[in-house]
Amino acid sequence: MTSLLSSLCATLGLAVTLISATVHAAESDSKAATNELNKVCPISGKPADGRITVIYEEIKYAFADAECRAKFNEARANSLYHKLGGKAAIDAAVEAFYVKVLADARIKHYFEDINMNKQRRKQKEFLSAAFGGPIPWQGKDLRKAHENLPGLNESHFNAVAENLQKTLEELKIRKELIDQVMAIAASTKDSVLNRKPGAK
Ligand code: HEM
Repeated sequence: MTSLLSSLCATLGLAVTLISATVHAAESDSKAATNELNKVCPISGKPADGRITVIYEEIKYAFADAECRAKFNEARANSLYHKLGGKAAIDAAVEAFYVKVLADARIKHYFEDINMNKQRRKQKEFLSAAFGGPIPWQGKDLRKAHENLPGLNESHFNAVAENLQKTLEELKIRKELIDQVMAIAASTKDSVLNRKPGAK
């Protein structure tokens, strides 16, 4: 499978560093995690047992029991997030995406007064969660986040979606995965445009 990360290597010429990151992706799970252990099981919501843990992308998670841990592992392995290449790949794709957005005369004015470091970070967190990553989205509701953008309409939404699709195509992501990403992006349209669900 061509991962998002390995495609990026070719695109940006960062072959050595990034291919090495891909090769060592599995090993990174065994690196020491330094985070404070969660007290609530992310699967069952019950108290977590600090002896039943897994390390995923250098973060250690504790679970109520072994069944919860197995569910967590299965969800990770089957997620679009994982298939795209995980955190490093999604972070890199969002960076490339905003280069396009900020160069796009149809929409760049919306980002003129925005702290783009924060915006990139938020978008990475949002998309990671939306693609089934391990950390739930804790930022603003998308309706709230976009409610004060003057004149925001479908043409702006489509321009953003187009930039996202082009970014993924340039990174040589498999069409099947791009289709899944674009379906998730499309599912946010009513919220981003502050419309009633299914409105035209
Ligand atoms: C696929 C569609 C979209 C998604 C998933 C999305 C996602 C997000 C997220 C996660 C945030 C940060 C929320 C937070 O601060 O917690 C955000 C903020 C923002 N988005 Fe979007 N967005 C989408 C479409 C658009 C469009 C079409 C525009 C305008 C052309 C836009 C412009 C902005 C701006 C300017 C902010 C910053 C608002 C502020 O900080 O006051 N977004 N978006």
